[in-house]
Amino acid sequence: MQIFHHSASVREAIAEARRAGKRIGFVPTMGNLHDGHMSLLEQARASCEFVVVSIFVNRLQFGLNEDWDRYPRTLEADSAKLQDAGCDLLFCPDEHEIYPNGMDEQTRVIVPTMTDVLCGASRPGHFEGVTTIVTKLFNIVQPDTAVFGLKDYQQLAIIRRMTEDLCIPVDIQAAPISREADGLARSSRNGFISEQERPRANQLHLSLEWVRAQLLAGRIDYAELEAAASQQIRDAGFREDYLKICNSRSLEPAADDDTELTVLGAMYTEKARLIDNVSFERQLGEER
Ligand code: PAJ
Repeated sequence: MQIFHHSASVREAIAEARRAGKRIGFVPTMGNLHDGHMSLLEQARASCEFVVVSIFVNRLQFGLNEDWDRYPRTLEADSAKLQDAGCDLLFCPDEHEIYPNGMDEQTRVIVPTMTDVLCGASRPGHFEGVTTIVTKLFNIVQPDTAVFGLKDYQQLAIIRRMTEDLCIPVDIQAAPISREADGLARSSRNGFISEQERPRANQLHLSLEWVRAQLLAGRIDYAELEAAASQQIRDAGFREDYLKICNSRSLEPAADDDTELTVLGAMYTEKARLIDNVSFERQLGEER
């Protein structure tokens, strides 16, 4: 596996792979790699002969009071995992390489829809930081395909919208959510969950599944369902950020007759903010 810190070397190595007729697959990450990240790599590998992973903890997408400074940085372990998994190229730039003119001066990419609801409501500016870095990474790597996890459902939807709106010639693939045995979605932030909290930390997943079951049973009292699920999260000793039943495509609050639904949620443990979601289709009964 080649490891590069500079965009120029990445471009050179990728140009060579392309000359050899290889398709380029790309998995952007912030590191502290777990099985979820590795499944994205495998998915990229399935359709591409040359797979690039980036590791960059992008300060532009963190709020001032968020966890940028304590975000886990485990580059050595990460590169060993990537090497074992057959990654071809690891790009791990420093901040100056990515933001040579400083972050304040950085040209931004703004997607006007879907960015100020759900996670965007509690993390103002977050998605602007994501779309800006992903655009920059796409321009450096110029992949044929890039794989993103459904774990970050809103992020994926926004990136799809961005690539469509800006005519970016990258095929965006979605990878399923990778979970622990008790349903907790894998996340680099799970390391912040305390031992005492851990047995209950799958509550967000359980509550989202509970809402799904209620909806599939025909309930359409969305507000009551959202309130009851939020109460379950509080009863388990956590604080909910949001829990919302949405239209899977627009991420707007679901209408009574929507058939493709996504229930998204975020909750705070003592030291972490965790997110999760569940998507499904339902048949509407004749009575509606
Ligand atoms: P990060 O949180 O490191 O996630 C990198 C990719 O892994 C994202 O596409 C995310 O959805 C996916 N992922 C994380 N946990 C997953 C899980 N349990 N199952 C499946 N996929 C999972 O998301 C980011 O980094 C950043 O915002 C980034 C896109 C790299 C831009 O900085």
